[in-house]
Amino acid sequence: MFVMGYNRMCLCAFLFLLSTLHDVHGDLSYSIQEEMKLGSVIGNIAKDLGLTLDILSARKARIETEENQRRFCDVSLRSGELIVSERIDREEQCGEKPSCVLKFELLMESPLELHRVSLQIQDINDNAPRFPTDMIKLEISESADKGARYRVDAAHDVDIGQNAIQTYRLQSNDHFVLNVQTTSAGSKYGELILDKELDREEQQEMKILLTALDGGSPQRSGTVVIHVIVLDANDNAPVFSQAVYEASLLENSQLKAHVITISATDADEGVNGEVTYGISRISDTSRKLFSLDRQTGEIFVSGDIDFEEGSIYEIFVQAKDGYGLSSDTKVIISITDVNDNAPVIALKSVTNPVPENVSPGTEVGLINVQDRDSQKNRQVRCSLQQHVPFKLIPSIKNYYSLVTTENLDRELLSEYNITISATDEGSPPLSSVKVVHISIADVNDNPPVFEEQSYSSYVTENNKPGHSLCSVKAHDPDWRQNGTVIYSLLPGEVNGAPVSSYLSVHGDTGVIQSVRSFDYEQFKSFKVYVMARDNGSPPLSSNVTVSVFITDVNDNTPQILYPAPEGNSFMTELVPKAAQGGSLVSKVIAVDKDSGQNAWLSYHIIKSTDPGLFKIDLHSGEIRTQRDISDSDNMKQNIIVAVKDNGQPSLSATCSMFLLISDNLAEVPELKDMAHEDSSSKLTSYLIIALVSVSTFFLTFIIIILGLRFCRRRKPRLLFDGAVAIPSSYLPPNYADVDGTGTLRSTYNYDAYLTTGSRTSDFKFVASYNDNTLPADQTLRKNPTDFEEVFGDLDGSPEHIRLCLCIVVMYCCFYNYNDLHIIICLVI
Ligand SMILES: *[C@@H]1O[C@H](CO)[C@@H](O)[C@H](O)[C@H]1NC(C)=O
Ligand SMILES: *[C@@H]1O[C@H](CO)[C@@H](O)[C@H](O)[C@H]1NC(C)=O
Ligand SMILES: *[C@@H]1O[C@H](CO)[C@@H](O)[C@H](O)[C@H]1NC(C)=O
Repeated sequence: MFVMGYNRMCLCAFLFLLSTLHDVHGDLSYSIQEEMKLGSVIGNIAKDLGLTLDILSARKARIETEENQRRFCDVSLRSGELIVSERIDREEQCGEKPSCVLKFELLMESPLELHRVSLQIQDINDNAPRFPTDMIKLEISESADKGARYRVDAAHDVDIGQNAIQTYRLQSNDHFVLNVQTTSAGSKYGELILDKELDREEQQEMKILLTALDGGSPQRSGTVVIHVIVLDANDNAPVFSQAVYEASLLENSQLKAHVITISATDADEGVNGEVTYGISRISDTSRKLFSLDRQTGEIFVSGDIDFEEGSIYEIFVQAKDGYGLSSDTKVIISITDVNDNAPVIALKSVTNPVPENVSPGTEVGLINVQDRDSQKNRQVRCSLQQHVPFKLIPSIKNYYSLVTTENLDRELLSEYNITISATDEGSPPLSSVKVVHISIADVNDNPPVFEEQSYSSYVTENNKPGHSLCSVKAHDPDWRQNGTVIYSLLPGEVNGAPVSSYLSVHGDTGVIQSVRSFDYEQFKSFKVYVMARDNGSPPLSSNVTVSVFITDVNDNTPQILYPAPEGNSFMTELVPKAAQGGSLVSKVIAVDKDSGQNAWLSYHIIKSTDPGLFKIDLHSGEIRTQRDISDSDNMKQNIIVAVKDNGQPSLSATCSMFLLISDNLAEVPELKDMAHEDSSSKLTSYLIIALVSVSTFFLTFIIIILGLRFCRRRKPRLLFDGAVAIPSSYLPPNYADVDGTGTLRSTYNYDAYLTTGSRTSDFKFVASYNDNTLPADQTLRKNPTDFEEVFGDLDGSPEHIRLCLCIVVMYCCFYNYNDLHIIICLVI
């Protein structure tokens, strides 16, 4: 055994290959003796192809054969060697052919590549020569002349060349010598030549051993006994009409179909002229296919004639007369091909599943098409059904590559059944189809997509933590984990706190829940981003905004800014005696932190000393006189005002307001009574009474002094000249004057609802702001400059100083009657 070598293909083959998809393919050619042991090494494929073992196994190098053909050898991926995997009998594979070559294909994937491997099988001398029969009967007339020749049936050795029959040897005898002849086809046969005349009376018969010898080493031989019978009469041997008969026969001919008739004639008469036929030598296969009528010489079909099994047969026929004289002829029967084999489509290799992101033109399979017929009947055309993103590209020989023609998308179509049809060119043509199933593997190429562009949710304030606000949903058409969507909040801040302290999103369901209770008065809406991510690697994601709108609940009672709420202090407004009906006396100012209806305030007088005297504007809170003030009216008027919002249920707050019908503060001697009807301690009451008495005394005294002092120079100025001054400190920071329309501003988005609409527009709002809560003693304390104006001329004298002190004391007492200050004032 030896390696013949590894050839590159010749130029023409090379050019042919350039037009195919594949790289250059070389032929590998090896030679090996028949009957090698299994596992014997034929050659080193890896070395001959210049590939490493790793590549060889990664590319799944393997031997492919034609359909029905045995494989005989395999590639060992461990050693890279081509080894014998089945018994190879040259005689079985090639018969008498002088050269026996087995052809295989070596297939490698990614990229698909095909190498032709031819394996030359060398003959070994494993068969001995054999004669067709054990004994040859030779009947020779005693009158035969010296030198007469008698052909002896040739022995046959299935080996070829040197291992075939080389010579014959005849056992030594008195009458015959052997002459070895060679036929035109190169086979050898022997002839007996009569060397010394026979004499029937001396010897009736004789047996001579003939040995056939081949040229192999060791030499093998076969023998036959030649039985010579010496005949009495002078006879003629039969003569065939043709030296060689030739017939042609369609394959698949029916049993008993007539093939050819051979005929031989004999010049003798009677029994000696009766010719019978017999087959002298026939191969085993031919014996099963043909039969000979001994009498007529007709040859019939007696088996299945298949062109693909054999296309030509030889039969040696012998004609014999009654004496046993015979002659030979040869019948050659050639079989004509019929298109009886449909093409066979074999899927040699396929990438399955195919990732959906392969580019167009990617090879996904290798297909082999074969037709066992010959010539035109063997020409095959291959095609795919329409509308699949695949096509067939002819590759070498009868191989086709299956390649993609478009981008694949598993989300659109996840599998293809590709129907390949092959038709030969016989008439009628035969065709076959094969369905190749290709499934498409997923690649994470789709990000999750939210059902909606954005989500919004409305939640009423004071909600419970854990309240479900809404749910987001995203779809990802990818497969399994590539399409599994996980939701999460994107980090961010709302009012300076992380979003996670406001909301949580359920990773699987996308349900968004509040984490805390929301307060509409703190913020009315906020936005978060929710991300949907799939589980692929790398993962894909998308995000969506979720806006949360908090709706108002009437949870804030109206807050009265002016006058200060009941209990903390009491306030007094001076109403000039001359006030006419409809004149503005005061105004209740209230705000509500809620919004909309919940902050729409209405003002009602729920209790008043003289119900007919004052009225309050329902919406502006302005308190006006209903009629002119008359002298009979009580000087002290007490009004309790309720401020209600319009919520469901509505909330309200009350305040009381004290109105003093007077042109002068000094005319109010019993003011404290009004303010302090419900004083808790009797002791305090007495104290107050005492104080008021003292105060009244001083007040009267002062008025007299002031009257004396000023009556000449100017009229005393009214402290609150029909106007209501509201200290700046009443206004909390977030409330601003609103436009004078007096209507509700649009929607919920404003902080305070105030009505103005007063014709006189006499509120003086000052921008600066100190504190929400007002110390009581500041309530109506005017700027010191007012006092300087009043007491501008009282300077220097101790009398004046005492006077001033008295006024201060009175002031203190008046406004801080229930304080410790009283004591201090008294001491002073
Ligand atoms: C492909 O063929 C298989 C089996 O015959 C069948 O189950 C499948 O539905 C077919 N697929 C398509 C896309 O036609
Ligand atoms: C998901 O996609 C990746 C590529 O992006 C792929 O390798 C993997 O096989 C896919 N998973 C499934 C379950 O299809
Ligand atoms: C949200 O998605 C958009 C595109 O859809 C992207 O531009 C933006 O950067 C993403 N935002 C975050 C916070 O990831």
